[in-house]
Amino acid sequence: MHKTMDSIYSRRSIRQYKPQQINSQETKTILNAALYAPSARNLQDWHFSVVQDPALRLKLKKILIENMNNSGVGFLIQKAEDPSFDPFFNAPTVVFISGNADDKFVDISCGAAAQNLMLAAESLNIGSCIITTPELLFAADKEDELKKELGFPSGYRFVYAITLGYKNCENPAAAPRKNVISFL
Ligand SMILES: Cc1cc2nc3c(=O)[nH]c(=O)nc-3n(C[C@H](O)[C@H](O)[C@H](O)COP(=O)(O)O)c2cc1C
Repeated sequence: MHKTMDSIYSRRSIRQYKPQQINSQETKTILNAALYAPSARNLQDWHFSVVQDPALRLKLKKILIENMNNSGVGFLIQKAEDPSFDPFFNAPTVVFISGNADDKFVDISCGAAAQNLMLAAESLNIGSCIITTPELLFAADKEDELKKELGFPSGYRFVYAITLGYKNCENPAAAPRKNVISFL
């Protein structure tokens, strides 16, 4: 099979990582692949904040768990109360993707970038998982302090995050895919 197809079919959401950081060349290669995704009107109005500093990562984990506890949502509170819970699956790298809040197509552009990023990671045998729960990080970020600390450009909002790291597991089997294709 063509190697692009190999990556498409072998990529799985990975939720177990080794503590070792991925090397900087791999990180750059993966992020650069995201930049080559299509974007609406070629605006490229996305931003990639690559968190590899353990202290910042820990700070984000603590805020997220606190906000989950305060969310009033039963299953989030239950998760947050588990002392072994890490919302980033202990991945050594977490990429926060933000996009221009005034662009109505920015989620689609960022989604295309996510898939490029995750397929590039898989082609290097690096695990990834796209996660949207970190949206709760910004629930109490009234002055946009956290957005600024993460380097979001002014007027950008959180779209999703992607965890990255060397896999500490085999790729799980793919969940069955629904038959949702009509040939006309
Ligand atoms: C928009 C979006 C949001 C997601 N959010 C989460 C999340 O918050 N936590 C998580 O563990 N997985 C999340 N996932 C991963 C899905 O659970 C996963 O893609 C799905 O179960 C199919 O598994 P696969 O990626 O291994 O093919 C998300 C996926 C997408 C596309």
